[in-house]
Amino acid sequence: MNSLFRQLTDSGKVAVAPSVLAADFSILGKEISDVEKAGADFLHLDVMDGSFVPNISFGPMVVKTIFRQAKVPLITHLMINDPLKYADIFVDSGSSVVSFHHEAVDSGHIQIIDKLHDKGCGAGIAINPDTPLSSVEDLLERVDLLLLMTVFPGFGGQKFIRDVLAKIEEASLLKEKHRYGYLIEVDGGINLDTASSVRDAGGQILVAGTAVFGADDYYSAISAIRG
Ligand code: DX5
Ligand code: ZN
Repeated sequence: MNSLFRQLTDSGKVAVAPSVLAADFSILGKEISDVEKAGADFLHLDVMDGSFVPNISFGPMVVKTIFRQAKVPLITHLMINDPLKYADIFVDSGSSVVSFHHEAVDSGHIQIIDKLHDKGCGAGIAINPDTPLSSVEDLLERVDLLLLMTVFPGFGGQKFIRDVLAKIEEASLLKEKHRYGYLIEVDGGINLDTASSVRDAGGQILVAGTAVFGADDYYSAISAIRG
Protein backbone atom coordinates (compact mmCIF):
# COMPACT_ATOMS: atom_id res chain seq x y z
CA MET A 1 0.00 0.00 0.00
CA ASN A 2 1.12 3.52 -0.71
CA SER A 3 2.74 4.77 2.51
CA LEU A 4 0.86 8.02 2.12
CA PHE A 5 -2.33 6.22 2.96
CA ARG A 6 -1.15 3.92 5.70
CA GLN A 7 -1.63 6.45 8.46
CA LEU A 8 -5.10 7.30 7.24
CA THR A 9 -6.15 3.68 6.95
CA ASP A 10 -4.77 2.82 10.36
CA SER A 11 -6.48 5.75 12.01
CA GLY A 12 -9.84 4.98 10.38
CA LYS A 13 -10.28 8.74 10.03
CA VAL A 14 -12.31 10.23 7.17
CA ALA A 15 -10.26 12.59 5.00
CA VAL A 16 -11.44 15.63 3.08
CA ALA A 17 -9.99 16.55 -0.31
CA PRO A 18 -11.16 19.94 -1.58
CA SER A 19 -11.51 19.99 -5.37
CA VAL A 20 -9.43 22.90 -6.64
CA LEU A 21 -11.71 23.17 -9.69
CA ALA A 22 -14.07 25.27 -7.54
CA ALA A 23 -11.33 27.61 -6.25
CA ASP A 24 -10.86 31.22 -7.33
CA PHE A 25 -7.97 30.85 -9.80
CA SER A 26 -7.11 34.54 -9.64
CA ILE A 27 -5.92 33.93 -6.06
CA LEU A 28 -5.05 30.25 -6.32
CA GLY A 29 -2.07 30.33 -3.96
CA LYS A 30 -4.17 31.91 -1.21
CA GLU A 31 -7.05 29.48 -1.81
CA ILE A 32 -4.67 26.55 -1.36
CA SER A 33 -3.13 27.82 1.85
CA ASP A 34 -6.60 28.73 3.16
CA VAL A 35 -8.03 25.21 2.67
CA GLU A 36 -4.87 23.72 4.14
CA LYS A 37 -5.18 25.89 7.23
CA ALA A 38 -8.84 24.87 7.37
CA GLY A 39 -7.86 21.19 7.63
CA ALA A 40 -7.73 19.79 4.07
CA ASP A 41 -6.00 16.40 4.09
CA PHE A 42 -5.37 16.30 0.34
CA LEU A 43 -6.01 18.46 -2.70
CA HIS A 44 -8.11 16.90 -5.47
CA LEU A 45 -7.07 18.08 -8.94
CA ASP A 46 -9.54 17.59 -11.80
CA VAL A 47 -7.88 17.30 -15.19
CA MET A 48 -10.37 17.40 -18.09
CA ASP A 49 -9.51 17.13 -21.76
CA GLY A 50 -12.70 18.20 -23.56
CA SER A 51 -12.88 14.75 -25.13
CA PHE A 52 -13.44 12.12 -22.44
CA VAL A 53 -15.61 14.74 -20.75
CA PRO A 54 -17.33 17.77 -22.34
CA ASN A 55 -15.21 20.31 -20.46
CA ILE A 56 -11.59 21.47 -20.34
CA SER A 57 -9.95 22.39 -17.04
CA PHE A 58 -6.19 22.50 -16.57
CA GLY A 59 -3.11 20.44 -17.29
CA PRO A 60 0.30 19.55 -15.86
CA MET A 61 1.60 23.10 -15.71
CA VAL A 62 -1.07 24.10 -13.23
CA VAL A 63 -0.58 20.86 -11.26
CA LYS A 64 3.12 21.70 -10.98
CA THR A 65 2.34 25.23 -9.80
CA ILE A 66 -0.04 23.86 -7.16
CA PHE A 67 2.58 21.31 -6.09
CA ARG A 68 5.12 24.06 -5.45
CA GLN A 69 2.72 25.76 -3.10
CA ALA A 70 0.91 22.83 -1.48
CA LYS A 71 1.82 21.22 1.85
CA VAL A 72 -0.68 18.34 1.55
CA PRO A 73 -0.43 15.54 -1.04
CA LEU A 74 -2.06 15.93 -4.45
CA ILE A 75 -4.57 13.41 -5.75
CA THR A 76 -4.93 13.97 -9.47
CA HIS A 77 -8.17 12.84 -11.12
CA LEU A 78 -7.59 12.35 -14.83
CA MET A 79 -10.76 12.69 -16.90
CA ILE A 80 -8.88 12.24 -20.16
CA ASN A 81 -8.60 9.80 -23.01
CA ASP A 82 -5.33 7.91 -23.33
CA PRO A 83 -4.18 8.18 -19.70
CA LEU A 84 -1.22 5.89 -20.49
CA LYS A 85 0.27 8.60 -22.67
CA TYR A 86 -0.05 11.31 -20.02
CA ALA A 87 0.44 9.40 -16.75
CA ASP A 88 4.16 10.24 -16.52
CA ILE A 89 3.76 13.95 -16.86
CA PHE A 90 1.24 14.12 -14.03
CA VAL A 91 3.54 12.13 -11.76
CA ASP A 92 6.43 14.42 -12.68
CA SER A 93 4.23 17.42 -11.92
CA GLY A 94 4.01 16.37 -8.29
CA SER A 95 0.95 14.11 -7.91
CA SER A 96 1.13 11.62 -5.06
CA VAL A 97 -1.70 9.59 -6.57
CA VAL A 98 -2.95 9.60 -10.16
CA SER A 99 -6.44 8.21 -10.84
CA PHE A 100 -7.64 7.40 -14.33
CA HIS A 101 -11.04 6.37 -15.60
CA HIS A 102 -11.81 2.75 -16.36
CA GLU A 103 -14.11 4.00 -19.13
CA ALA A 104 -11.25 5.83 -20.87
CA VAL A 105 -9.21 2.69 -21.48
CA ASP A 106 -10.07 -0.32 -23.68
CA SER A 107 -7.37 -2.57 -22.31
CA GLY A 108 -4.03 -1.91 -20.67
CA HIS A 109 -5.36 -0.79 -17.29
CA ILE A 110 -2.70 -2.88 -15.58
CA GLN A 111 0.03 -1.32 -17.70
CA ILE A 112 -0.97 2.14 -16.46
CA ILE A 113 -1.13 1.00 -12.82
CA ASP A 114 2.32 -0.61 -13.13
CA LYS A 115 3.74 2.48 -14.77
CA LEU A 116 2.48 4.69 -11.92
CA HIS A 117 3.86 2.30 -9.32
CA ASP A 118 7.22 2.06 -11.10
CA LYS A 119 7.47 5.82 -10.81
CA GLY A 120 6.67 5.67 -7.09
CA CYS A 121 3.20 7.12 -7.50
CA GLY A 122 -0.07 5.83 -6.09
CA ALA A 123 -2.52 4.46 -8.66
CA GLY A 124 -6.26 5.01 -8.59
CA ILE A 125 -9.07 3.66 -10.72
CA ALA A 126 -12.15 5.84 -11.20
CA ILE A 127 -15.61 4.72 -12.31
CA ASN A 128 -18.67 6.63 -13.42
CA PRO A 129 -21.97 6.40 -11.53
CA ASP A 130 -23.39 3.85 -13.98
CA THR A 131 -20.31 1.61 -14.16
CA PRO A 132 -20.62 -1.44 -11.90
CA LEU A 133 -17.90 -2.35 -9.47
CA SER A 134 -17.61 -5.75 -11.16
CA SER A 135 -16.04 -4.09 -14.23
CA VAL A 136 -12.91 -3.19 -12.21
CA GLU A 137 -12.90 -6.11 -9.81
CA ASP A 138 -9.72 -7.62 -11.26
CA LEU A 139 -7.88 -4.34 -10.65
CA LEU A 140 -8.87 -3.86 -7.03
CA GLU A 141 -5.99 -5.84 -5.57
CA ARG A 142 -3.53 -3.61 -7.45
CA VAL A 143 -4.79 -0.09 -6.83
CA ASP A 144 -4.21 2.31 -3.93
CA LEU A 145 -7.41 4.21 -4.55
CA LEU A 146 -10.88 3.45 -5.85
CA LEU A 147 -12.61 6.63 -6.98
CA LEU A 148 -16.38 6.30 -7.06
CA MET A 149 -18.09 9.11 -8.93
CA THR A 150 -21.38 10.34 -7.50
CA VAL A 151 -21.95 12.64 -10.50
CA PHE A 152 -21.11 12.17 -14.17
CA PRO A 153 -17.66 13.70 -14.56
CA GLY A 154 -17.16 17.00 -16.34
CA PHE A 155 -18.46 19.75 -14.10
CA GLY A 156 -18.45 20.86 -10.49
CA GLY A 157 -21.65 21.84 -8.71
CA GLN A 158 -23.81 18.91 -9.86
CA LYS A 159 -26.39 17.01 -7.83
CA PHE A 160 -25.26 13.98 -5.83
CA ILE A 161 -26.54 10.68 -7.30
CA ARG A 162 -27.79 8.71 -4.27
CA ASP A 163 -27.96 5.39 -6.14
CA VAL A 164 -24.16 5.18 -5.91
CA LEU A 165 -24.34 4.74 -2.12
CA ALA A 166 -24.98 1.02 -2.61
CA LYS A 167 -21.80 0.75 -4.68
CA ILE A 168 -19.79 2.50 -1.95
CA GLU A 169 -21.10 -0.08 0.55
CA GLU A 170 -20.26 -2.89 -1.86
CA ALA A 171 -16.71 -1.57 -2.31
CA SER A 172 -16.31 -1.28 1.41
CA LEU A 173 -17.46 -4.85 2.06
CA LEU A 174 -15.27 -6.21 -0.71
CA LYS A 175 -12.26 -4.39 0.69
CA GLU A 176 -12.88 -5.85 4.12
CA LYS A 177 -13.52 -9.35 2.79
CA HIS A 178 -10.33 -9.54 0.70
CA ARG A 179 -8.26 -7.16 2.86
CA TYR A 180 -7.59 -4.97 -0.16
CA GLY A 181 -5.39 -1.94 0.42
CA TYR A 182 -7.31 0.65 -1.60
CA LEU A 183 -8.94 3.67 -0.05
CA ILE A 184 -12.43 4.61 -1.20
CA GLU A 185 -12.60 8.15 -2.53
CA VAL A 186 -16.02 9.58 -3.38
CA ASP A 187 -16.42 12.55 -5.71
CA GLY A 188 -19.31 14.74 -6.83
CA GLY A 189 -22.09 16.65 -5.12
CA ILE A 190 -20.73 16.11 -1.61
CA ASN A 191 -21.93 18.78 0.77
CA LEU A 192 -23.15 19.18 4.34
CA ASP A 193 -26.36 17.26 3.51
CA THR A 194 -24.88 14.34 1.57
CA ALA A 195 -21.56 13.77 3.39
CA SER A 196 -22.95 11.71 6.26
CA SER A 197 -24.49 9.09 3.93
CA VAL A 198 -21.14 8.83 2.11
CA ARG A 199 -19.29 8.32 5.41
CA ASP A 200 -21.86 5.78 6.61
CA ALA A 201 -21.56 3.83 3.35
CA GLY A 202 -17.78 3.58 3.78
CA GLY A 203 -16.33 6.57 1.89
CA GLN A 204 -12.86 7.34 3.26
CA ILE A 205 -11.74 10.35 1.24
CA LEU A 206 -14.55 12.80 0.55
CA VAL A 207 -13.98 15.22 -2.33
CA ALA A 208 -15.81 18.54 -2.17
CA GLY A 209 -15.50 21.49 -4.52
CA THR A 210 -18.48 23.81 -4.29
CA ALA A 211 -19.27 22.91 -0.67
CA VAL A 212 -15.79 24.02 0.46
CA PHE A 213 -14.74 26.84 -1.86
CA GLY A 214 -18.29 28.22 -2.01
CA ALA A 215 -18.51 28.40 1.80
CA ASP A 216 -17.86 31.57 3.82
CA ASP A 217 -15.91 29.57 6.36
CA TYR A 218 -13.68 26.83 4.91
CA TYR A 219 -12.88 25.40 8.34
CA SER A 220 -16.54 24.84 9.27
CA ALA A 221 -17.30 23.34 5.86
CA ILE A 222 -14.37 20.88 5.97
CA SER A 223 -15.09 19.92 9.59
CA ALA A 224 -18.77 19.29 8.83
CA ILE A 225 -17.95 17.17 5.79
CA ARG A 226 -15.44 15.14 7.82
CA GLY A 227 -18.12 14.59 10.48
C1 DX5 B 1 -16.43 16.38 -11.51
C2 DX5 B 1 -15.15 16.46 -10.72
C3 DX5 B 1 -15.37 16.73 -9.27
C4 DX5 B 1 -15.97 18.09 -8.99
C5 DX5 B 1 -16.53 18.09 -7.61
O1 DX5 B 1 -16.13 16.03 -12.80
O2 DX5 B 1 -14.45 15.23 -10.82
O3 DX5 B 1 -14.16 16.55 -8.54
O4 DX5 B 1 -15.03 19.11 -9.10
O5 DX5 B 1 -17.21 19.29 -7.45
P1 DX5 B 1 -18.48 19.43 -6.52
O6 DX5 B 1 -18.04 19.10 -5.12
O7 DX5 B 1 -18.89 20.84 -6.67
O8 DX5 B 1 -19.52 18.45 -7.01
ZN1 ZN C 1 -12.81 14.88 -9.43
